[in-house]
Amino acid sequence: MKTKTYVITGATSGIGRALTEILAKEHIVFAGYRNEQKAEELKMISSNIFPFYIDYAKPETINSAIEYIKSKASKIDTLVNIAGCVVAGPIERIPVQEIKRQFDVNVFGHLQITQGLVNELENGKIINISSMASYGIFPYISPYCASKRCLDMFFNSFLIENKKNIKVISVKPGVISTPLWCKSIAENSEQLNECLGYEKEMQFMMKNAQKNEKDGLNVEEVTKTILKIDSMKNPKLSYTIGKDALFAHYFSKLPQKIINSLVKFGLKARMK
Ligand SMILES: NC(=O)c1ccc[n+]([C@@H]2O[C@H](COP(=O)([O-])OP(=O)(O)OC[C@H]3O[C@@H](n4cnc5c(N)ncnc54)[C@H](OP(=O)(O)O)[C@@H]3O)[C@@H](O)[C@H]2O)c1
Repeated sequence: MKTKTYVITGATSGIGRALTEILAKEHIVFAGYRNEQKAEELKMISSNIFPFYIDYAKPETINSAIEYIKSKASKIDTLVNIAGCVVAGPIERIPVQEIKRQFDVNVFGHLQITQGLVNELENGKIINISSMASYGIFPYISPYCASKRCLDMFFNSFLIENKKNIKVISVKPGVISTPLWCKSIAENSEQLNECLGYEKEMQFMMKNAQKNEKDGLNVEEVTKTILKIDSMKNPKLSYTIGKDALFAHYFSKLPQKIINSLVKFGLKARMK
């Protein structure tokens, strides 16, 4: 089998970590981390893993990461944009700075690394881990939903425009059992814990996040799909993973007014 070269961001946890472990058995993997201790863990997995520091909340770190990868690889077969976080709360209360951070991490970082590696990606693939949230029907995590929709829009345009035969595929998982959800409770504690007038809703969001982390699909459902897409000559442009994501896809086709009424009604019923 031909050894391929991958760049994976968000390689230190959940989906990214699982994918890195699988791919590094046979391929070269440039693996993004933002925490030194986790870089050491990555190095211990395989000598095929080249950890690189990148923190999308600190955009100044992105160019050094790009330079590092370019200094070691002249061709990248697949870039898997996985790094992500969730900014949550009622839109009237989330500090705009936090909404900007959501877009830095889930959108602008992925755009910048792609721009930096575009020549190396010629004839290759970009696999973006979007979300069913891209269908935009989840209140109290609207920055997350908007960021995922935005990611899909920018990259769809890139797919049409680019002259280097780079394929772009959006993977939209439903709920997956990873640390993402409990991290989101910690990261959004201010909005979640001191949200005058929205106490009941925020309690529900926190319980739901804990439930997601326990009851979501196994990460293998996502890594299986990514590996399948990676092996295909002509993959589809978008893949949903899980019944919830498929439901969200069809639900999003309804008129907005009906969607909003059903979401409000559903939320009220679930919070009882
Ligand atoms: N879990 C789900 O239910 C689900 C569903 C749909 C889509 N997704 C998407 O799947 C992707 C992976 O999430 P996951 O579920 O595997 O969660 P995860 O276990 O929390 O992994 C997120 C990864 O992104 C990294 N990351 C977070 N903030 C970053 C930043 N500022 N700069 C660079 N890297 C950063 C994390 O680093 P640390 O290890 O240092 O935290 C980690 O490696 C995300 O884009 C998420 O939106 C997840």
